[in-house]
Amino acid sequence: MTERLEMYRCEICGNLVEVILDGAGELVCCGEPMTLLHARNNDSEGLEKHVPVFDEIQDNKTKIRVGSIPHPMVNEHYVMFIEAVSKDNNETHLKYLYPADEPEMVTDLKNIAAREFCNIHGLWEGTND
Ligand SMILES: [Fe+2]
Repeated sequence: MTERLEMYRCEICGNLVEVILDGAGELVCCGEPMTLLHARNNDSEGLEKHVPVFDEIQDNKTKIRVGSIPHPMVNEHYVMFIEAVSKDNNETHLKYLYPADEPEMVTDLKNIAAREFCNIHGLWEGTND
């Protein structure tokens, strides 16, 4: 059983998938069940560089930064994507990032949570309330 917006990873090949619509089946990759990722948050070690933080900016937009101390953005260690998710889970906005990019994105979405994926430290989340 999968639920909308869950993320699953293959421990063998590294495939990372997001569920678009709920389903009854089990996700399998490389012949093995995929692992459901649980985002870490403010209770986790390393939060200063990983938990998304939110700034209201001009034109009613929100800038999402990773994190309160900027996360490294080098080949060996970087934020691979940031995803803003409306609190009713009906809208998302995903931005892929690459080494040397700023670890941030701007979105029009309101009342959001954000998730980010670090190539070393995995999935993290934060909310703007
Ligand atoms: Fe990291």
